[in-house]
Amino acid sequence: MILVTGGAGYVGSHLVLALLEQGKDVIVFDSLELGHIEIIETMKKYGNLKFVQGNLKNLDDIRGIFLVNKDIEAVVHFAAYSQVEESVKNPQKYYYNNVYGTLNLLNAMMEFGVNKIVFSSTAATYGEPSYTPIDENHPQNPINPYGNSKLMVEKIMDDYDRAYGLKSVRLRYFNVAGADKEARIGEWHNPETHLIPNILKATPDKKFKMFGTDYNTKDGTCVRDYINVEDLALAHIKALDYLNNGGETNYINLGTNEGNSVKEVFEACEEVKGVSIPLEACPRRAGDPAVLVADNKKAKEVLGWRPEKDLTDCIETAYRWEKVLSDK
Ligand code: UFG
Repeated sequence: MILVTGGAGYVGSHLVLALLEQGKDVIVFDSLELGHIEIIETMKKYGNLKFVQGNLKNLDDIRGIFLVNKDIEAVVHFAAYSQVEESVKNPQKYYYNNVYGTLNLLNAMMEFGVNKIVFSSTAATYGEPSYTPIDENHPQNPINPYGNSKLMVEKIMDDYDRAYGLKSVRLRYFNVAGADKEARIGEWHNPETHLIPNILKATPDKKFKMFGTDYNTKDGTCVRDYINVEDLALAHIKALDYLNNGGETNYINLGTNEGNSVKEVFEACEEVKGVSIPLEACPRRAGDPAVLVADNKKAKEVLGWRPEKDLTDCIETAYRWEKVLSDK
């Protein structure tokens, strides 16, 4: 059985569904502060899924999972706060949840002899890029508490490997996008801050705000590497296989090697929707680097994983999901 923390959230739920569809038994631990019970109910139709509501900040909540479920082979750890701007305003919330919460999880794992974990890390651990595309040897100098909290966990995992034999794969995501191809699940944040859903949600009364048109890039807008959430889920399954086959602790970028500007994404969304989308050019958003693109060679070499889906796939599936969401 695989334990997935944060499995009712955006990225976590896509992994849960992929695991269930491969016939794996899954237990989801989620506080439902940001995740959605409707997503869990939907996924229960596709395999053997147990759900336990709990908070990683309570050691007893997570110990209880291991106490009752003796057949947990590995953990995939998504549960975290992930809003960069909020982390700057309220770092305590980020360190307490993302770092202390993870310490509780790791302590419970060590106590019950579970030593394999796949961890959601982020390109935000690199900070302002000194070169691009960014490979895994790029220095890690986060520029906000969110990135710091994820980097701290990466370092804790290294120390736990040396001391207790914890084997971890830290997957450093670039910009995750898209939804389940059958629109059963998808991205569901409140409020939504991410680019593609915000473009798709725009109306004449609530225009899409394009943050910054004066960057030193091909068209003046920021360039990001959009990685499809279903491709991303498969990379986690490959990371679990890697650990099950005796793989050592590792850290791997998940991206496409390709950058798209905000303008390009906007135009691709107009193409998919077949209408022109109301747009407002706005000043830069604080803390946005001009370009963030992954070098994904290591993922190919170590995991045998490569992204299959492109930006249009991401937008089409996100759009289908937006229609489902607007009826909820
Ligand atoms: N953007 C807009 N308008 C919007 C939303 C976004 O113009 O309404 C722009 C942003 O300014 C940025 C780009 O679109 O240039 C992408 O922004 P997102 O908010 O979608 O994503 P980020 O690149 O800011 O952040 C994402 C994750 C973070 C993670 C980071 C790592 O949300 O958790 O990638 O690269 F840390």
